Formats: sequence, structure tokens, C-alpha cells
Amino acid sequence: MTITRKKRILILSYSFSGQTSCLIRRLKTGLEKNGHQVLKERIEPVVHLKFPTGSIGACLVMMILTLFRRRNPICPLSEQVNQHFDLIILAGPTWSYNPSGPILYLIDHYGKKLFSGQTVLPLISCRGYWRMHQWILKAMLRHHGARIPNSLIFSHPCHEPWRTIGVFMKIAGKAPEHSALLRGHYKKFGHSQAQQDEAERLGLLIGEALRRDEDLSTLPLHTPITLP
Ligand SMILES: Cc1cc2nc3c(=O)[nH]c(=O)nc-3n(C[C@H](O)[C@H](O)[C@H](O)COP(=O)(O)O)c2cc1C
Repeated sequence: MTITRKKRILILSYSFSGQTSCLIRRLKTGLEKNGHQVLKERIEPVVHLKFPTGSIGACLVMMILTLFRRRNPICPLSEQVNQHFDLIILAGPTWSYNPSGPILYLIDHYGKKLFSGQTVLPLISCRGYWRMHQWILKAMLRHHGARIPNSLIFSHPCHEPWRTIGVFMKIAGKAPEHSALLRGHYKKFGHSQAQQDEAERLGLLIGEALRRDEDLSTLPLHTPITLP
């Protein structure tokens, strides 16, 4: 077994309602426990996207626009991203079965420069419907010359239809966890504490594999935590 130098990892992320952010915070801790250097870069839309949207109408409009893959222009990235990394983690939410608008814009405009010749692990935070998002993301990244050995997927741990109703209401600015009708079925918006712990465990696993120069494609990164 060969143990090699510490690796340089970039976590590029966008988070609308804080769920991706809470996962990558713990993933970063796991990676750093293996001695790797982890740089974080947040993707910020030029026009701030307000969470919650504030009304059911505004939430519906956002869902329709995102279904058609509307791009959200982003602020320029810092200089730190313009180098070769041993691994890039590209993290963000699913929006209407697609990657989010800021991530789509990032890949359209910076894809070749950022991802050509790099190893990229997508991290998806979603309520549960991620397959098309993953497929589109991989195709876009591969088009720019990235290698994608694996991916990390986190779904909200809640049964349907409460999960969909709860997410919709939360984005609209309501509080489904306090509603007399829903609170018995919908306890919390987003990822559980167990999933955040799992993100750190997966960070440790990836970190160990990188230290040993192992292939990330064989790592069991699919979390079994989907329901409480
Ligand atoms: C406009 C919009 C559309 C969404 N569409 C989907 C979807 O198609 N599938 C899904 O599983 N989750 C969907 N979600 C839920 C988010 O992916 C989920 O809440 C995620 O955890 C949010 O991560 P973030 O807080 O980092 O933005 C959608 C959320 C928004 C705001």
C-alpha cells in the first residue's frame, strides 16, 4: 500500500436554501481529517435569489423557469480556482429535474477552463428526484473534458407526498412543519443530522482513497440514508 502526499481539493458550490452548504461543510471536515488541503468557492448569482420566494405564485414561476433550464448569471470566481486540483467537488441542488441555474451558467461559461482534464465528483442535494440532473450534469462536464468517477447524492429523508408538498411550501415561505394538517407527516425541511454525519463519513472515505491513490469509481458513495 502506497501513501502519497496530501491532495488539493476544490469544493465549488451553490446553495439556495442552505442544504448543500450544510452537507459540504461536513464533507470538507472529513476530507481535511485526512490531511488534504481543501479550498471552498461559493457560486454567487449576480442577482441575489431570495429564499424563500415569498409566495406560492413566485415559487411556481421559479419552478417553471427552472424546468426550461434558465441560467442565472454568476459573479466572477476568485483566482484560486484557476489551477489543477487532484479533485473538484461540484455541489448544488436539483431544480425541476435539472442542475440549478447558477451551476448551468458556471458550466456554460467557465466549463472548459475549470473542468478540462480535472477529476470531478458531483454532489447533489435534492428532495429525491436527481437522476435527470445527474445525467445532464455528467454529460455537460464530460463535454468539457472532465473525468467523473463517481457522485454523491443526498435526498430529503421523508415519505411522499409530504416531501414534495413540504418542499414546495417551504420554498414559497410557509412553515409546513408547523401546519396542523402536515406536521404529523413533515417534521423538518431538508437533510437530517444523520445525513450531515454521513457527509463527513463520505468525506473521510474519499480522503482515505485519495491518500492511497485509489480509484474513486469503486468507492461506495451512495448513502443508504434516505428515510429516518
Ligand atoms: C425551483 C426548485 C425546483 C426544485 N426541483 C426539484 C426537483 O425537480 N427534484 C428534487 O428532488 N428536488 C427539487 N427541489 C428541491 C431541492 O433540490 C432541495 O430542496 C435541495 O435540498 C435544496 O438544496 P439547497 O438548499 O442547497 O439549495 C427544487 C427546489 C427548487 C427551489
